[in-house]
Amino acid sequence: MIYLDNAATTQVDGSVLSSYMDISTQLFGNPSSLHKLGEMSSGLLNQSRKQIADLMNVYPEEIYFTSGGTEGDNWAIKGTAFEKESFGKHLITSAIEHPAVLKTMAQLEQMGWDVTYLPINQEGVINPSDLKASIRPDTVLVSIMAVNNEMGSIQPLKAIGDVLKDYPTIHFHVDAVQSVGIMDLDLNHSRIDLAVFSGHKFHAPKGTGFMYIKKGRKIQPLLSGGGQEKGGRSGTENVPGNAAMAKALRLALENTEEKKQHLSHLKDQLVNYLTGFDKVSLFSPKGSSPHIICFGMKQIKGEVVVHALEKEGIYVSTTSACSSKRKEQTHSIMGMGYAKEDAETVVRISLGYQNNLNDIEAFKQAFAPIYQQLASIYTDHTLGN
Ligand SMILES: Cc1ncc(COP(=O)(O)O)c(C=O)c1O
Repeated sequence: MIYLDNAATTQVDGSVLSSYMDISTQLFGNPSSLHKLGEMSSGLLNQSRKQIADLMNVYPEEIYFTSGGTEGDNWAIKGTAFEKESFGKHLITSAIEHPAVLKTMAQLEQMGWDVTYLPINQEGVINPSDLKASIRPDTVLVSIMAVNNEMGSIQPLKAIGDVLKDYPTIHFHVDAVQSVGIMDLDLNHSRIDLAVFSGHKFHAPKGTGFMYIKKGRKIQPLLSGGGQEKGGRSGTENVPGNAAMAKALRLALENTEEKKQHLSHLKDQLVNYLTGFDKVSLFSPKGSSPHIICFGMKQIKGEVVVHALEKEGIYVSTTSACSSKRKEQTHSIMGMGYAKEDAETVVRISLGYQNNLNDIEAFKQAFAPIYQQLASIYTDHTLGN
């Protein structure tokens, strides 16, 4: 199997899994328990929080453990909306966010909030002056992702932060799920107030994640109960998962420049190869993340290509993992101005640092005959045969 679907999820790193298993079997106490085992778990939890904070160059008190990206996005957005309801009910986001953001916004709209969806340009990014123009006296939150999960465009977070410097009461939330090892958000010096991360996107176990909440910023909890995570997120802590995630984050952030160069090299190979086919359109814009290549074969549904590649042992996706099974079109591609018919053709290759040139070669070997076969169907079809 050649796994090229790392934006959907990653394989857990072997050493991270060993840590997870060791901690699960040996340090299984509840961190809230008063006995020694509980104390040891609580110590490990604090250590993991500090490790993550050090890696992100922020304070440990600014790191909150969650179950992943969806929870983090829901918490950041609803938590801000509920906290700031008396000041205003206007939220701003982009048209190409992950469903964890867009569906949360839609839910809040139904509950009486007003949401502005910023458009993107042909490069897949928002224009900071559109953001400035859409800010109102009742705006309480701006939510813009770091790296788009479908076509990999990278949003101008610094420029967005510069706009928001004039509006200190607005919370700036960043869905940073696809950004680990790709972008340094420089949280400590940035205008970002809330940033959401998901462990399974960087080789940690599934069901792990963390959120950065800048000191002094307040959001309402969504989970009420025993008051864990300083009252922000009740529920017995996932100590083995969080410790394993801290280790995975350390590994992910080692030698990032080399890893990015490696990914860029593999991406260049794929892009050069794919652009050689006249019935292939490349959707990933210039300057997009080195780990995502989004393309389509004209008039051929993405799922057809995905399944044909799967038969050859190559694993890729259509759109984001959560939309692909429900056959939802990729809103990111349509946001860039492509037609619905183009959006239906989307295939996403997403690379991980463990992929190598042999994998790219295997992809090429598998794709060429698939292309020939599908392209001839397309030609027959257009000729009415
Ligand atoms: C940009 C982005 N945000 C949020 C999520 C949701 O994260 P999780 O799967 O951890 O809930 C994903 C997952 O694909 C994502 O790519």
